[in-house]
Amino acid sequence: MKRLLLILKSGIWMHYLRSLVIASSVLISSNVLANSTNVKSLFNFCGTCHGEYGEGNPAPKVAAPAIAGLPIWYIKAQLLKFRAGGRGLHANDAGGLRMRPMARTLRTDQDIDAISKYISELAVNKVPRTLKGSPVAGESSYQVCAACHGDKAQGNQAMNAPPLANQSDWYLLTQLKHFKSGIRGSNPILDPIGATMAPMAGTLVDEKMMLNVIAYIKAFGK
Ligand code: HEC
Ligand code: HEC
Repeated sequence: MKRLLLILKSGIWMHYLRSLVIASSVLISSNVLANSTNVKSLFNFCGTCHGEYGEGNPAPKVAAPAIAGLPIWYIKAQLLKFRAGGRGLHANDAGGLRMRPMARTLRTDQDIDAISKYISELAVNKVPRTLKGSPVAGESSYQVCAACHGDKAQGNQAMNAPPLANQSDWYLLTQLKHFKSGIRGSNPILDPIGATMAPMAGTLVDEKMMLNVIAYIKAFGK
C-alpha cells in the first residue's frame, strides 16, 4: 500500500514535471530568438549557403549573395517579401526559389527582427571580383541609379534602395537581368518596392552596359 501510494505520488510528480517541461519549452520556442545563442545557431543555418561570415557563395548551385552588414531595414524587407511570396516565386528564379523556403522557416516577425539585427551587425566582407567591365564607360549609366542608391552606391533608406558597392558582381548582374526580364520586381501588389527598381534595369540596354555599370559600382567597394 505504501509502495502504491509512492508510485501514485511519483506519477503525479512526473505529470507535474512533464507539464512544466512542456510549458517551459513552449515559452522557449515562442521566444526562441530572444536568446543570442539561438540567433547565432540560426545564423549558422543561413551560413550553410551565405557563408560562415555572411560573405556569400558564388558556387552556381548555391549562388547566395553576401548579406553581412546589409542595413537592417533592407534585410527585414527582403525576408518578409520572400516569406509572403513577393520575391522568390517566379519559375525562372532559381536562387529566389532556394531562398523562399528558408525565409518561411522564420515563423514570427520577432524571429525576422532578431536575425536581421544580427546580420546587420556583422562586418561587411571584401568579396572577390569575378567579372570584367569598364568603370569609365559605366559612369554615365550610373547617374540614374545614384538618385536612389547614392552617389557612391552606399544605399539610401529613404528610397528603400540597398547599398550595392560591397555586393558580389555576379549577384548584381543576375539581379539586374532578373529585374529587366520581370523575374524580380514584377508584382506591384506583393512587391511594390521592387516594382520601382524594375524599370531602372531597363535603362541598361545590354549585358555589356550592365557589366560596365557594375564595374563603376564596385570601384566604391572594399
Ligand atoms: C539553401 C541556401 C540558402 C539558405 C540556407 C539561406 N539562404 Fe538566403 N538566399 C539564398 C539565395 C540563393 C539568395 C539569392 C536569391 C536571388 O537570387 O534572388 C538569398 C537571398 C537572401 C537575402 C537577400 C539579399 C539581397 O541582397 O537582396 C537575404 C536577406 C537572405 N537571403 C537572408 C537569409 C537568412 C536570414 C537565412 C537564414 C534564416 C538565409 N538567407 C538562408 C540562399 C539561401
Ligand atoms: C527609383 C529608385 C531606384 C533607382 C533609380 C535604381 N534603383 Fe536599384 N533598387 C531600388 C530599390 C528600391 C531596390 C530594392 C528592391 C527590393 O526591395 O526588392 C533596388 C535594388 C537593386 C538591386 C538588387 C540589390 C540586391 O541586393 O538584391 C540592384 C543590383 C540594383 N538595384 C541596381 C541598380 C542600378 C544598376 C540602377 C541604375 C541603372 C538602379 N538600381 C537604379 C531603387 C532604385
